[in-house]
Amino acid sequence: MLFVKKHIADRISAAAPALFGGTGLGADSLLELLEYPPDSSMGDIALPCFKLARTLRQSPVKIAQALAGCFEGDGDVSAAAVNGYLNFTADNRYLAKTVLGQIAAEGEKYGSPRTGEGKTVVLDYSSPNVAKPFHIGHLGTTVIGHSLKKIHEFAGYSCVGINHLGDWGTQFGKMIVAYRLWGDKEKVEAGGCDALVELYVKFHKEAEADPSLDDRAREEFRKLEQGDPDNIALWQWFKEISLKEYSTTYRQLDIEFDSYAGESFYRDKMAAQLEVLREKGLLKLDGGASLVDLSEYGMPPCLILKKDGSTLYPTRDIAAAYYRHETYHFGRCIYVTSSQQSLYFAQLFKVIELMGYEWADSLVHVPYGTVSINGEKLATRTGNVILLKDLLAMAIEKVDAITKEKNPSMPDDRRAEIAEKVGVGAVVFYYLSNNRIKDINFMLEDALSYEGNTGPYAQYTYARTCSVLEKCGDIPAPRRFVAQTPEEHDLLVALSQFPERVKAALDFYEPSYITRYILDLCAAFNRFYHECPILTSGDPDATACRAAMTSAVNTVLGTAFGLICMKKTKQI
Ligand code: ARG
Repeated sequence: MLFVKKHIADRISAAAPALFGGTGLGADSLLELLEYPPDSSMGDIALPCFKLARTLRQSPVKIAQALAGCFEGDGDVSAAAVNGYLNFTADNRYLAKTVLGQIAAEGEKYGSPRTGEGKTVVLDYSSPNVAKPFHIGHLGTTVIGHSLKKIHEFAGYSCVGINHLGDWGTQFGKMIVAYRLWGDKEKVEAGGCDALVELYVKFHKEAEADPSLDDRAREEFRKLEQGDPDNIALWQWFKEISLKEYSTTYRQLDIEFDSYAGESFYRDKMAAQLEVLREKGLLKLDGGASLVDLSEYGMPPCLILKKDGSTLYPTRDIAAAYYRHETYHFGRCIYVTSSQQSLYFAQLFKVIELMGYEWADSLVHVPYGTVSINGEKLATRTGNVILLKDLLAMAIEKVDAITKEKNPSMPDDRRAEIAEKVGVGAVVFYYLSNNRIKDINFMLEDALSYEGNTGPYAQYTYARTCSVLEKCGDIPAPRRFVAQTPEEHDLLVALSQFPERVKAALDFYEPSYITRYILDLCAAFNRFYHECPILTSGDPDATACRAAMTSAVNTVLGTAFGLICMKKTKQI
């Protein structure tokens, strides 16, 4: 509704000097004051006049009454003064002509904030730890990260999606020891990640009774760091097995990365950064380890080198940030991880700033809350975890069963395709329905429900627009815009809000704004669908206009689904 807001602000600011004297009111500051009322009975847009009372030295009631006069004879917007508020309602014809015109002209680009041209954004997300489980805790970083990438691309940014794999560190020493003691080539090849995790879990169990295993693991990792060929070969193999398995999950989610440069990629890039840290006098020795003291900034120290001189997670992150800046010249680099790492990223960014890198302020951490499933918390060490691939498989299986029941004659391959789109979409949609920072308890039954505010419901609505459009055939574009019912009005308002919602999702790194928008648009469309006959309206202009509205909903839903990584399906 930005164009309606602008229309209102322009009109008021043009009339203000004559009404109130002085320089009047600026259109830009008026735009800020205009708000959407909680209930459509109060109009589409409201101006709370008490905010102007001080500047204009008049009571809000008087201001509202005086301003209402400016809209007499305005065919596009009508205004009503109510208790110090000015409530505006946009004319249906004006709304229909503008919104449907814009959507028809811009198509899949409709709603793009177009703020990103010429700018590069790096997004670091998903980033599972090789040989540890890819569990549902990673669902957040994977889908929030990818959705933010889509939203940025939509706004015109050029984006680099990086999977910063956890493919380096002492856990590989443990894996090497475990594999040599208890591993079996065929078993690991057949079992994939599960077999690797089993070894990892066994290592921890055995090491509790025999701590010397930990020393052996450290030694094997040291050898790996020094390039021991046998250890390198094993490490490479563990990585291949894991990546192969991740690729199934990524394919189901329709995610591709531009780079898989994980932690190991920075092995030879840390020395230069250690040099900078030393030069700047930032490294302090503490019991043999090296760290950066951050007490001045109210944070615990950032550990850079262990006692034995080996590097750590932050050491690699410093090198990674520098490398990315050199390579991609980013305007912003976004890290998506659980909020458990919020302090870590605050420390990291501070260290990078202290190192004198002026781009430190373009690093952004985007945190999210924890996930449990059906009330169960996760425990990695004991192996009692729910894997992301299992969650997706469960969702697909259930949708498949539901579809089979509803439509027994559907061919198997068609049903399998729908089950994957709807099942995976349900998980993604459910996850992205809440503000990202909230902890969520994932209830699979709720996510898969076809009624209620779910992915299947949204996909069902999309499929409905497809079947309506098919029935409409080649209805010509409307000659005249005749939208009369409240349902049509509300649907046009919902369509017109898309650009602002996208902008908010971009500004706040919040995909849930898109998810909620989808629900609002679906609700408005379904009310319209039940109340307003399309083909049987009895008026060719009304039919053409309603068909155009359906087509607009189809376009906008399609775009919005893409922004939250949910696939479209014409049949459900
Ligand atoms: N591998 C890490 C984990 O699973 C996340 C990595 C996030 N990215 C980064 N550059 N530190 O916890």
